[in-house]
Amino acid sequence: MPIEWKAYLETGIPIIDKQHKELFNQMQELHAACKEQGGKAAIQEMFGFLEGYFNDHFATEEKLFEEHEFPGMDRHVSAHDAFKEEIHEFRKDVNERGIKAMDALKMNRILVGWLTKHIGNMDQEFAPFIKKKLGMHD
Ligand SMILES: [Fe+2]
Ligand SMILES: [Fe+2]
Repeated sequence: MPIEWKAYLETGIPIIDKQHKELFNQMQELHAACKEQGGKAAIQEMFGFLEGYFNDHFATEEKLFEEHEFPGMDRHVSAHDAFKEEIHEFRKDVNERGIKAMDALKMNRILVGWLTKHIGNMDQEFAPFIKKKLGMHD
């Protein structure tokens, strides 16, 4: 099922929304590649993309939390760490046993869950607080 970018996923913080959309675009590429039997290469590409995403995007959010003393920081950082761990375990598993076609489905399921639960919920929780600190209006 193709995924759609929805307004509820927006935080209104330009750098954060840009990084979230980069993940979303990569998910669409994975989806397109799976339809064209290029799923295995696209999964490896997604693992590579996610490493960069952890380093750039999670670091961007966590730096904002620290700078502005966001009260929900510990809980949010734990969610980032748990997601990193889940992806690292998945990658390790794939590297040990070899990649399978069904891994595309698994990757998609994990990422759609992340998009709706984390980006669509947890990231929305810090948005009003950070925007206020940055002097931005809703
Ligand atoms: Fe995020
Ligand atoms: Fe986050």
